[in-house]
Amino acid sequence: MSEKALEQEEKPPSSWPKEKPHWLVAVLANIKDDNIARPANVPPDAYADYDHIETIHLIRTALESDGHETIFIPADRNLPYALQEQKPDICFNIAEGLGGDAREAHVPALLELLNIPYTGSRVLTNAISLDKTLTKRIWRDRNLPVAPFQEFATGDEPLRHDLRFPLFVKPAREGTGMGVDTKAIVNDEAELRERIKYVIEMYRQPALVEAFLSGREFTVGIMGRADAKRFSRHPEWYNKDGFHRFPILELDSSRSVTPNIYSHSAKAKDVGTAGAPNYICPAEIDPELAKKFHHYAWRAHLVLGALDISRTDIRFDSDGNPRLLEINTLPGLTPGYSDLCLEAATEGISYEDLLLEILYQAAGRWGMIEARELPPEPPKKRTGPLVSK
Ligand SMILES: Nc1ncnc2c1ncn2[C@@H]1O[C@H](COP(=O)(O)OP(=O)(O)OP(=O)(O)O)[C@@H](O)[C@H]1O
Ligand SMILES: [Mg+2]
Repeated sequence: MSEKALEQEEKPPSSWPKEKPHWLVAVLANIKDDNIARPANVPPDAYADYDHIETIHLIRTALESDGHETIFIPADRNLPYALQEQKPDICFNIAEGLGGDAREAHVPALLELLNIPYTGSRVLTNAISLDKTLTKRIWRDRNLPVAPFQEFATGDEPLRHDLRFPLFVKPAREGTGMGVDTKAIVNDEAELRERIKYVIEMYRQPALVEAFLSGREFTVGIMGRADAKRFSRHPEWYNKDGFHRFPILELDSSRSVTPNIYSHSAKAKDVGTAGAPNYICPAEIDPELAKKFHHYAWRAHLVLGALDISRTDIRFDSDGNPRLLEINTLPGLTPGYSDLCLEAATEGISYEDLLLEILYQAAGRWGMIEARELPPEPPKKRTGPLVSK
């Protein structure tokens, strides 16, 4: 064996990253606190999308398992001062925001202003994805299948002729099933007007009215971007296009506290197995259909400019056509409970690895970590005969 070959053989396998990062990671979130008195004028399910402090502990432990230091900073009005005092290297953002028409964009906007790196989607994407009407307009424009819909800002607008009962009414800008229960399904003009009025007055925002989609429901997680492998602890997870598609989760709500609807109360942690939907992962569907759902969720993510991670909800209409409901660019991350964590667990991705992947993807984007060297792609196979000129 030549000296050079021997030298190469003795080299340890190249490890990445060469210098192990040690970051101060600030977890930013809004916390559910049942001990704090709720203002009188908020909806009964207000703050449902906030996180339990136990989830923050679990997120911190997962991030610390890779040698980082973590702190938790509540995403409240003191956040700008706390950030300037604590000076984190990067923020792990799961904050839902405090109010207004684009609350999920508050924290990204502040972090952009302070020039602090953070995980996940940026300002514009988080603002749009909170707004289900706007999201659907964009998707429709890019030929993604959505149910017919109409937004009601005052409640007095005439119902469009192409919308047929039964219809479904929900707040245009909420999450975690807020404002959604069995009364969201309306069967005639009187029920429609009553529910629109309820949503506008109670949630102080427009009501989104859609065709009622009576079929099965699925949710599909997407992670990555074109160069994801280069900043990944697990490059083998990603397809050639740089994206990881999680196994599809079916929510079978046929028996639940709100039959056929994955509502706020069906999502509540204390609902118990009898009240919760049946979670089926991977969904028992034809591989061709799974491929289609993955394609839709991937396109839904790309079209909105989502980053690192997202989860798109899909439901069948009464004719068996899949329709995209909405995208969650800040998907819940409670282990053993949140849809995305269930999907990851199904394919053996640990909670630690899932969270660290989100962190590393963001760190790569913000230039905090060198890119991994990848072996060159094998040459493309020729598909046809060479044409000689
Ligand atoms: N047009 C519809 N037809 C039938 N059911 C619907 C429709 N829109 C919403 N739903 C039901 O209501 C649930 C909540 O709606 P949606 O996913 O739009 O809002 P969300 O509260 O933002 O959800 P998430 O908890 O995923 O953030 C859906 O999971 C589904 O069960
Ligand atoms: Mg949803």
